[in-house]
Amino acid sequence: MGSRSPAGAVTRLPDMTTRTWDLVLFGATGFTGALVAEYLSQHAPPEVRIALAGRNRDKLDEVKRGLGAAGARFGVLLGDSADPASLRAIAEATRVLCTTVGPYAKYGLPLVEVCARAGTHYCDLTGEPQFMRRSIDLADDLAKASGARIVHTCGFDSIPSDLGLLTLHEFAKSRGLSGRFKHVAVAVSLKGGFSGGTVASLLHGVEEAMADRAVRRLMGDPYALSPDRAKEPDLGRQRDLAAVRYDDLLETWTAPFVMASVNTRVVRRSNALLGYLYGRELEYREVTSLRKGLKGLAYGAMLTAGMGALLASQAFKPTRALARRLLPKPGEGPDKAARDAGSFKFRFEGETVEGERLHAKVVGTSDPGYGETAKMLSHAALCLAQDEAKLPPRAGVLTPATALGMPLVERLRGAGMTFDAFPGKR
Ligand SMILES: NC(=O)c1ccc[n+]([C@@H]2O[C@H](COP(=O)([O-])OP(=O)(O)OC[C@H]3O[C@@H](n4cnc5c(N)ncnc54)[C@H](OP(=O)(O)O)[C@@H]3O)[C@@H](O)[C@H]2O)c1
Repeated sequence: MGSRSPAGAVTRLPDMTTRTWDLVLFGATGFTGALVAEYLSQHAPPEVRIALAGRNRDKLDEVKRGLGAAGARFGVLLGDSADPASLRAIAEATRVLCTTVGPYAKYGLPLVEVCARAGTHYCDLTGEPQFMRRSIDLADDLAKASGARIVHTCGFDSIPSDLGLLTLHEFAKSRGLSGRFKHVAVAVSLKGGFSGGTVASLLHGVEEAMADRAVRRLMGDPYALSPDRAKEPDLGRQRDLAAVRYDDLLETWTAPFVMASVNTRVVRRSNALLGYLYGRELEYREVTSLRKGLKGLAYGAMLTAGMGALLASQAFKPTRALARRLLPKPGEGPDKAARDAGSFKFRFEGETVEGERLHAKVVGTSDPGYGETAKMLSHAALCLAQDEAKLPPRAGVLTPATALGMPLVERLRGAGMTFDAFPGKR
């Protein structure tokens, strides 16, 4: 049976009665994967049938043992990104596939393809726009035909951005406004660390951009993830901030935010997939919020210079090797004390097309990239596994807002994250 989604795609729910698992976590042996496995063992309802997957049975057994009694019910499956038949077998055995195997641009595309073909819902943690573009071009039509929701960026990038703007939009509608905005600016403050996998993904993206002009051009395009590039509005270059600057809408000094070039593209894709629900005139930006005074400005200058130095280091072999030696290796990341001490806050300031000011905040209370990301990815996967009836009727290569929307906001609120919106300026 087919049904027509608001986006116009005919979607067909796959036959899920033959699937052995509700949720398979691929990459459970990695730094982030192990945190997601732990979160699921403690928070997934017992009726959700879960398996841990990866390429090394001994490592998988060790992760499972480490979960103690809470993980005893989890199955273990073997699969390797370099072996498409093993990926197909896993995708066809589960209703939802959640993957932390990265860099995604290196390993991820075959898994997206088998899920899109099998009608298996999929979520990941990528922050790699070039990978998402390839995924859209390869798998959007396949997923629409099979009914699969392929949902990228279900971690720190880009759930706070994508669901924060959706929360602001819903709040505007609840006040009788159109929900369309002229400007939304987001000030990000955070305390957190990096894992080896994140560093590897970042550097892989820089390498690809240095080697390929098309990748460079894509990364500079504000509508890099558009479903139909020719139909996007012409609002100028909408460049991400590259220097310390005073922001009039946020009324604070700001510096570049390292994930802005990913999050802004995801938010613009959501807007287009939603038929420009947030407005065709929307100008959206994300920046790092600086503390008042000279200390704040000095930190902003250091941050800008540090980001520039990391990028420049990748241009030469000796500095590239040095950077790789100094940065965390695959499997490494912030320890529990550092994760518990972390936090983040996104402050949204918006001006609606009616000229009203509204603001919103999204807050997480542990390390953004690991503590809160394990929570966000786990709930995205559980939302796909358990909330089908509440989700917007949509299939294809989607975003957190278009695939999971307010049901995921509700889940994350229940898990201790804040998504709040208010009238006026902060
Ligand atoms: N968006 C966010 O907020 C966010 C936050 C955290 C992480 N991430 C992303 O998540 C990804 C993982 O990061 P991480 O630090 O957890 O990395 P990691 O510790 O290096 O883990 C990588 C995982 O991939 C597996 N893997 C590698 N090659 C494989 C292959 N050919 N077949 C099957 N599995 C394979 C590894 O298995 P083995 O154990 O067998 O080597 C390991 O389980 C990165 O892309 C990172 O950027 C994003």
